[in-house]
Amino acid sequence: MADIILGIESSCDDTSAAVIRDGYLLSNVIASQQVHKDYGGVVPELASRAHELNIVPVVSQALAKAGVKPADLTAIAFTRGPGLLGSLLVGTSFAKSLSLSLDIPLVMVNHLQGHVLANFIREEGKPVREPSFPYLCLLVSGGNSQIVKVSSPLEYEIIGQTIDDAVGEAFDKCSKMLGLGYPGGPVIDRLAAQGDPLRFTFAKPHIPGLDYSFSGVKTSLLYFVRDEMAKDPSFLENNKEDLCAGFQKTLIDILLDKLIKASKQTGIREITIGGGVSANSGLRSRIVSEGQKRHWNTYLPEFKYTTDNAAMIAIAGYYHYLSGARTPLDVAPVSRMADF
Ligand code: KG4
Repeated sequence: MADIILGIESSCDDTSAAVIRDGYLLSNVIASQQVHKDYGGVVPELASRAHELNIVPVVSQALAKAGVKPADLTAIAFTRGPGLLGSLLVGTSFAKSLSLSLDIPLVMVNHLQGHVLANFIREEGKPVREPSFPYLCLLVSGGNSQIVKVSSPLEYEIIGQTIDDAVGEAFDKCSKMLGLGYPGGPVIDRLAAQGDPLRFTFAKPHIPGLDYSFSGVKTSLLYFVRDEMAKDPSFLENNKEDLCAGFQKTLIDILLDKLIKASKQTGIREITIGGGVSANSGLRSRIVSEGQKRHWNTYLPEFKYTTDNAAMIAIAGYYHYLSGARTPLDVAPVSRMADF
């Protein structure tokens, strides 16, 4: 009999549900929340309220698109954390209730594990191209910047991570401070494509080992713009493409320097990326070009699987389910990685 898994993701500001059958995706529905736009960042309380409104229609739509009835489900996978506690509570409570009412197993998933396994989402009729183990995943999002060594679907180790801001935060905060828009990553990506990345350069941090830091480069850009604006108030307006291109290039250089170091240290040449920032066109093309130079096998998830989605939670949950993992109904969500 087929294993049909319903995945539920609600860790931040996207409510998502997906259905997979024996590892193949049948549906992936995502309701993004527009309510945060006016605030320039995710407002946790508004996010949980929006999840409450979205969760039933999103799950119903995912089941309908997949052509699956609740009674056909084998198990329910859900994001337990890390993320915003109120948001996680909605998905977790819903998953628990459904599992109880259908009398089927519940399987908890670490959100980050979903991102690192995004390349394993299979779709009927599409060629299968998956990294072999062990591989390195550069996990870059609004909340994380990590290099993860993945030894099997269920075994992973964080070998480098940010000591302050995440790279997505650097994109978002700078864009907000410069009045360019929210979320900052896609805005800066678009402007950077029209600019000269070599005209402005920003200081890179010197952090030992494989760890990252992004708060210094953010400050470097903002102070530079402030000083130039004091001399010429139209500086930002006249130079925003070049500024974005230089800033984005600096962030990508920082990410790549440590990834190259990690590959050399571990001898691993299977390289993947994941998380919202892996949608960045500059980062994607740079990973491919570095990979060609360094004989890496590089794997880039499709755009739709880079940001938060339940397909990756369902696939991670499927592996956990196959391994025999079951989550008790008294499980509570956790906001921090360390509490998982
Ligand atoms: O994984 P994700 O959806 O969730 C969070 O961890 O919040 O990542 C969101 C992050 C935001 O910081 C957003 O600015 C960034 O991903 N992002 C991008 C791009 N698209 C989304 N950053 C750079 N370039 C992009 N094209």
